[in-house]
Amino acid sequence: MSIGKTILGTLRQQQNLGDYRKKHWEGSFEDYLDIVREHPEVTRTAYQRLYDMILSHGVEESYEQKEKITRYKFFTEFAAQHGDAIYGLDRQIVNLVNTFKSAAKGYGTEKRVLLLHGPVGSSKSTLARLLKKGLEQYSKIDEGMLFSYTWRGNANDGTWHKCPMHEEPLHLVPFDLREGLLAKINEDRQPADFPVTITGDMCPFCRQMYNERLAKYDGDWTRMLEEVKVYRLILSEQDRIGIGTFQPKDEKNQDSTELTGDINYRKIAEFGSDSDPRAFNFDGELNIANRGLVEFIEVLKLDVAFLYDLLGASQEHKIKPKKFAQTDIDEVILGHTNEPEYRRLQNNEFMEALRDRTVKIDVPYVTRLKDEIKIYEKDFNAERVKGKHIAPHTIEIAAMWAVLTRLVQPKHANLTLLQKLKLYNGKTLPGFTEDNVVELKKEAVAEGMHGISPRYIQDKISNALVAHPEEGCVNPFMVLHELEAGLRHHSLITSPEQLQSFRELLQVVREEYEDIVKNEVQRAIAADEDALTRLCSNYIDNVKAYTQREKVRNRYTGNFEEPDERLMRSVEEKIDIPEGRKDDFRREIMNYIGALAIDGKKFDYKTNERLQKALELKLFEDQKDTIKLTSLVSNVVDKATQEKIDVVKSRLTRNYGYCEVCSTDVLQFVASIFARGHAKK
Ligand SMILES: Nc1ncnc2c1ncn2[C@@H]1O[C@H](COP(=O)(O)OP(=O)(O)OP(=O)(O)O)[C@@H](O)[C@H]1O
Ligand SMILES: [Mg+2]
Repeated sequence: MSIGKTILGTLRQQQNLGDYRKKHWEGSFEDYLDIVREHPEVTRTAYQRLYDMILSHGVEESYEQKEKITRYKFFTEFAAQHGDAIYGLDRQIVNLVNTFKSAAKGYGTEKRVLLLHGPVGSSKSTLARLLKKGLEQYSKIDEGMLFSYTWRGNANDGTWHKCPMHEEPLHLVPFDLREGLLAKINEDRQPADFPVTITGDMCPFCRQMYNERLAKYDGDWTRMLEEVKVYRLILSEQDRIGIGTFQPKDEKNQDSTELTGDINYRKIAEFGSDSDPRAFNFDGELNIANRGLVEFIEVLKLDVAFLYDLLGASQEHKIKPKKFAQTDIDEVILGHTNEPEYRRLQNNEFMEALRDRTVKIDVPYVTRLKDEIKIYEKDFNAERVKGKHIAPHTIEIAAMWAVLTRLVQPKHANLTLLQKLKLYNGKTLPGFTEDNVVELKKEAVAEGMHGISPRYIQDKISNALVAHPEEGCVNPFMVLHELEAGLRHHSLITSPEQLQSFRELLQVVREEYEDIVKNEVQRAIAADEDALTRLCSNYIDNVKAYTQREKVRNRYTGNFEEPDERLMRSVEEKIDIPEGRKDDFRREIMNYIGALAIDGKKFDYKTNERLQKALELKLFEDQKDTIKLTSLVSNVVDKATQEKIDVVKSRLTRNYGYCEVCSTDVLQFVASIFARGHAKK
């Protein structure tokens, strides 16, 4: 068999024809009434469908820094599947979803323009893109199905004319029959069931078709329905069905027809008048987005004249195509704008009407390092960056700088910006409680609305990746270099002071990087497992005796002695356990060991990350003299030293994710710090 035939054969088996038929379902109006009776949710409004779509992916709740966090999996799991996960904006997303919820319930927000507002590159477009994708996908599954209808052509030649605005088929029911029909459909429903309602009327095109056909059947509506076919509607941005996007061009070039449709000049000759709906294309963004969502990019750049179209669309759910009466629409209107445009709006009296009718949702930058790192790992990971290794901490350092530029200087005299960043990131610092962190967040009102955008960081990491084609590995220095070099031409930096402060923050992260790698190298040097196990059991023996107020047996002399306070403290100090907290720390460890013992398990220092770090640093201190780090920077290295270096390098590779290139770099770098005599600790 030929390869082509085999491939097609396999693909044929993979096709899901049942699913295809379901998605392309067609039937009579009568069939549709059966569906409505059985699944009343098919008649939901656009807001209700959007809200249910988000909920359909599930919700998780957790507590972070004393705050209850609700997380909609739509924005995490579904989004991640589409390479668009949103990080660190849980609270803002809750605001957004609550707005959808109240609109779904008809509490008023459905009459407003939703405005995502935030600095450039804060994921506003990403959010809008996700919602559109979510709606498309939801319309394809049973839970989210919806329907529209099409008219048989006059000539009865097999042509059909779809409603250009994909209206709900129930719009076909004349007003005087609606009450009776709904009473039947909603008969014996439970209060919790979704009640079917009918709002709105047909579009001008369908009115024309309707009237013509009604005349043909001498006013018999039920017979007229024979000219109608109902079909399952699948929303699709690409096909301009139920999903629209409007992007204002320059102000002179804006044209309302892009929103509400335009005359089809070729057809005027055929139908004789420009007010015949058949000679009109109802294909503006607001028309085609009916039943779904329309996104207004840079909505405030819209010419004032069109803002009125937008206001009508949101407030009345009606649009006015040229030469036609007001037309009902049912769609979610989502605009976004960045900070400078929004400020312009606030100072503009003409815009008052708009301001009053918008619900503003802030979308700030992320201020938690962990989340910022995830944004970059989305694009820069081993999967996507092929043939180049990204040295440990490269992304972390860039993200750290980005977050620092966004933080407001704390009022606390003895708290640096970097420490604040660490507190936000979930680290505990002596003297600061979770309440302090909540307090810090409260005092910094506009935090996250300024600073460096993720886009700048993404661009500079890409630059660093391509700037050194000869290198197999990109490291933090290369990225820091790109970040700094780009600052001079950064169009959004407005003052020399700001430039200066961003530069100083680069220095802050450089120093932090030194600390991080110094630590890591020291730990790699000391990561001799036997020595660590010995040190650990010695420490634990002492801690046990201390907490139980006993004596320790000296291994060499066999004598019983007081616990060795100096030893214990020299370990604990390595991970900043203050004197006042030492009892807690020791008790915690003993409890942990006790709990393990109940399960018949033995304690292993590797299961306690902090203790492991403390032990490694202590061991390094004890053996500092046996490996001369500084000798690394000299050109002549004897055989014994080289062997030790190789061991350290392999530990760096195995335990910390270094490669051959960057482990050599980092050892050299740390050695040079020691050579400069900068060893702080
Ligand atoms: N909180 C976040 N979570 C995940 N990705 C983010 C986040 N913030 C920004 N990004 C990423 O930053 C980039 C810019 O985002 P996006 O284009 O959505 O921003 P925007 O707010 O629309 O910007 P602009 O105002 O310039 O149009 C994208 O790659 C996006 O994935
Ligand atoms: Mg955008």
